[in-house]
Amino acid sequence: MRVQGVVRPPGDKSISHRVLMLAALARGKSELTGLLTGDDVKSSARVLRQLGADISPIRESGVGVRAARLSPPASRLHCGNSGTTARLLLGILAGQRFAATLTGDASLRRRPMRRVTEPLRTMGAKIAEHGDGLPLTIRGGQLRGLTYTSPVASAQVKSAILFAGLTGGVPVTIREPYRSRDHTERLFAYLGLGIHERDGAIVFEPAVGPSGLPAVHVAVPGDASSAAFLVAAAVLAEDGELLIENVGVNPTRTGFLVVLERMGAHVERVNLRDAGGEPVADLLVRPALLQGTEVSAAEIPTLVDEVPMLAVLASRASGSTVFREVGELRVKESNRLELVAANLRAVGIRAEARENDLHVEGTSQPARGRVETAADHRLAMAFAVLGTVPGADVRLSERRSVAISYPDFFRDLRRIRA
Ligand code: S3P
Repeated sequence: MRVQGVVRPPGDKSISHRVLMLAALARGKSELTGLLTGDDVKSSARVLRQLGADISPIRESGVGVRAARLSPPASRLHCGNSGTTARLLLGILAGQRFAATLTGDASLRRRPMRRVTEPLRTMGAKIAEHGDGLPLTIRGGQLRGLTYTSPVASAQVKSAILFAGLTGGVPVTIREPYRSRDHTERLFAYLGLGIHERDGAIVFEPAVGPSGLPAVHVAVPGDASSAAFLVAAAVLAEDGELLIENVGVNPTRTGFLVVLERMGAHVERVNLRDAGGEPVADLLVRPALLQGTEVSAAEIPTLVDEVPMLAVLASRASGSTVFREVGELRVKESNRLELVAANLRAVGIRAEARENDLHVEGTSQPARGRVETAADHRLAMAFAVLGTVPGADVRLSERRSVAISYPDFFRDLRRIRA
């Protein structure tokens, strides 16, 4: 298989959620370009509209947001499949003087929410829940400041607390075991909201009141996590070269490039620039022979969504690969830890989850078999890429889930293969 051409990944999912939410809280009219048009971002737009924000249809070419004072929703806020929508929204609602009930699809209802509701409760939000998940009802109001050490390196937890600090107009200080993606911090800094780092902690001291947030004008860069599938397809090819344009290369997101480098693939970053406080580059990728590696616990937050793709790449490497301390993958859109291992085995590869580590043995035998995606977009895309290897025969249980984060994935995967 040969790769060729130029491709652009869709807009960054994490940043798209955040800019929509900030724009819904801002004063006046915001203009956002480059947004992801996937289902998760549409979930954020839908619930923000239910809360009174006027948001034009989600198009990559541009979205206008006219903020209004948020108001009580007439019905439940359905967050679809999107953990980021649910958790960040809880932070926003913590600072509002009304009650709202959040729910989601079957996958989202299974995902833990206490990691967010606990600190928000300490800040003064009233939250009624049944077990550690959705649906739950939050009643916000007068908040107090918080100094919090998170037990998990989670950008969603960190961002929910920062949003609560913003909407409640109170200071917050957050420590996390390892630095998770810092898009919220960068946006707060870009908008001059009063954020800095002190002794390894993230400190937010409101520079403007909750009603003084300036309008947001941001061009969202391409999603590094979506680009990772294109990078992987190019690395696994036999020949050619692929240029992936406009990729966000924030170091808290690009651990997969660091690991790939160690495995023997070199991805060149060209045309480095800045967009709205985020570093952006074009990636030039060529095929490579890979060696197995060890991915440390400290690296995991920088590549947490790329473990399925990296595990698939490890199955094509010489030698074995281990991912340390990836227990968090059990509570993603699916139980990714067990499903990555089980699906690799289903296509003839030796792989196993041992306690919280994931072990993968490389082979040169082409993968053959049926993969159960459990409607998880990242599993579908990672195994679709494995299916591009000559001689492979990988059948997916479904392909629709890619609409969550990369609606045109199959079109792009076809186009880059000559
Ligand atoms: C995200 C944070 C990560 C990531 C998810 C998006 C975000 O989750 O897996 O896809 O936008 O903040 P955690 O915060 O649970 O690690």
